[in-house]
Amino acid sequence: MLKSVRRSISFQSLVVVTTSLIALACPAARGQQSGLASTPPMGWNSWNHFAEKVTDADVRSAADAIVATGMRDAGYVYVNIDDGWEAGRDAEGNIKANSKFPDMKALSHYVHSKGLKLGIYSSPGAKTCAGFEGSYGHEEQDARSYAAWGVDYLKYDLCSYMGVMKLHDPGQAPETANEMMKGAYKKMHEALVSTHRPILYSLCQYGVASVWEWAPEVGANTWRTTDDISDSYRSMALIGFSQAGLEKFAGPGHWNDPDMLEIGNGGMNADQYRTQMSLWSMLAAPLLAGNDLSKMDEPTSSILMNKEVIAVDQDKLGVQGTRVGPPQIWVKPLSDGAKAVAIFNYVTDDEAEPLTLRLKDVGINGPVHARDLWAHKDLGVLRDSYTVTVPQGGVVMLRLWP
Ligand code: GLA
Repeated sequence: MLKSVRRSISFQSLVVVTTSLIALACPAARGQQSGLASTPPMGWNSWNHFAEKVTDADVRSAADAIVATGMRDAGYVYVNIDDGWEAGRDAEGNIKANSKFPDMKALSHYVHSKGLKLGIYSSPGAKTCAGFEGSYGHEEQDARSYAAWGVDYLKYDLCSYMGVMKLHDPGQAPETANEMMKGAYKKMHEALVSTHRPILYSLCQYGVASVWEWAPEVGANTWRTTDDISDSYRSMALIGFSQAGLEKFAGPGHWNDPDMLEIGNGGMNADQYRTQMSLWSMLAAPLLAGNDLSKMDEPTSSILMNKEVIAVDQDKLGVQGTRVGPPQIWVKPLSDGAKAVAIFNYVTDDEAEPLTLRLKDVGINGPVHARDLWAHKDLGVLRDSYTVTVPQGGVVMLRLWP
């Protein structure tokens, strides 16, 4: 029930994203803990593969795999437990982990001993989306527990707080509901700050009430812009390509979050997963792998660990890419004066076809050097345009520099 209510709101919010060309200037990023998320966070999250079945052992084996596969050295540092770790509360009201997580402090110690960071999940409501214990009425206490355990990242998911806001009560003014929501997010931000532990703050409320316009003011480092992703090309493409227009709200310390990666979960082919990796990097999105890292095949690890593509996501200029005139061409300026350009063949029922990038469409007049970031190949000097055959559902991603 809760899920279906949320999903209908989220669909509206997706439409808002798609048509968001009238967005206002970004509010000053106030109140975030300094230095956090200066580039989009990278890591792994348990939800897309393990859902509420996740265990301590799964998290440890994800941490092991991040190190063994080279992912940590490629930049993936957060190991995030999503929903499903919570039990009830003890007599003093302290949140308890369930029997799948016998010792959070020991788990955190293990993750930290690998040079990684630990993330956790809760809700401003009394219940999380999967029906576990939320933080409602216990915000400061929960923040203190997370800090005591050694948590470095909190995903805070609206879920049952929608009932508290009376979002669907015809007698409730939407402005009142939205102010309550902002208040709830600010409350947890302040609780995190008062622990004096740097804890990256990740809002998850599916894009409701144009969250990108106010999330930095309530201390968010990232905020989900849409409903949940699933492991299908349709879901990934609908979410990813609908981000156009939100670029003005992102920057160092505060990022739009089009949800986690599905790469390696099996519902898409390698071209389509390369599209997710490329598009998310063009969007300066968080890169949170969502697969079982202990069972990664070679195509999956080479997609997740394409360092030339990751460098586009992590570029310190921190500018989210934009879609330019021709709908399949996106451009992202980089800190050294180069530009990343992605050419997508996103209509999957078409054969692979030649697509042409006109340099002037991406603001380049005159010859540029070009490198293909998936072929790992220099292409020499381009003059006016570049024509390339792009596979169905796939992408060609270039770096162009004077
Ligand atoms: C919501 C979120 C998901 C996940 C689940 C957990 O659906 O959007 O990313 O955290 O809750 O229940």
